Amino acid sequence: MAKSSRQASKLSIVGAGAVGTSLAYAALIRGSANVISLYDIDKKKVDAEVRDLAHGTQFTSSVVMGGDDIGVVKDSSVVIITAGAKQKPGQTRLDLAATNAKIMEKMMPGLLKQAPDALYVLVTNPCDVLTVVAQKVSGLPSSQIFSTGTMLDTSRLRWLISKKANVTQRNVHTTIVGEHGDSEFPVWSSATISHVPIRDWTVSGKKVFTDDVLDQLAHEAAHAAYEVIEGKGATNYAIGLAGARLVEALLAPARTVLPLSSVLTNYYGVSEVALSLPTLVSSAGIERVVEIPMDPTEVSALHLSAEQLRASLAQLGY
Ligand code: LAC
Repeated sequence: MAKSSRQASKLSIVGAGAVGTSLAYAALIRGSANVISLYDIDKKKVDAEVRDLAHGTQFTSSVVMGGDDIGVVKDSSVVIITAGAKQKPGQTRLDLAATNAKIMEKMMPGLLKQAPDALYVLVTNPCDVLTVVAQKVSGLPSSQIFSTGTMLDTSRLRWLISKKANVTQRNVHTTIVGEHGDSEFPVWSSATISHVPIRDWTVSGKKVFTDDVLDQLAHEAAHAAYEVIEGKGATNYAIGLAGARLVEALLAPARTVLPLSSVLTNYYGVSEVALSLPTLVSSAGIERVVEIPMDPTEVSALHLSAEQLRASLAQLGY
């Protein structure tokens, strides 16, 4: 598979809804890719979104294109799939599995025809389940088709911790792994702020991250989407920014570790299901899923997450 660099890079975003257009806007402002293409079957909507973005490209370094013809995806370096039904208030991501799996099964062959060498990123939920569906339907290796997974959840948790610790997010080193959903969990056993184990971090001389506080922060991160959806009907800005950052990592010559969801092979005994873990990526896609230290509680939580997703896949016949 040809490696792309940012210079000759084309990002195609499938779906011109709130998430797809926020991702396009974030990528445009950040200059994540040279060409940004937006594809949707709703011609009126996608033409208007493309025009609205293109009207601002005098102020950006990328160009924008798109439309309702799947040919706008042709020769993409990265294809990010955001199309599908979105969570309604009170709905879990897994509730969307049947509807969105059908959309994925229908859409993948046409996308592959246009961009057989692209790196495919699932954002549509439930993204872990749909990563397995899309991989099986496409026959792509797990290095070439994966999901943003808990990249966003990890960003939410780091924001929460940085506020509590009164320190910039860049100094917060912890990751949420597992399902991008209710069974996700932070790997607290190796969490640090700078080089300090998180439980030893002090604010005004007092340790602030007790077990109760850590449990509360994990709950807040895992339930953040529900609250935002309750308030505004969808989440879009943060996932858009996370997606744009991922595109940059997939177009860079350097290699980056990000929490992403891909189909695992014997990771602490978990196989054949997609879960998020620290993953080494480059313009070649996923180079490897990084084996990180986990304590026995965390290994059992990983297996629990895998079981939830395997049950959802079984209901779909995968
Ligand atoms: C969220 C969506 C992207 O967590 O699942 O906001």
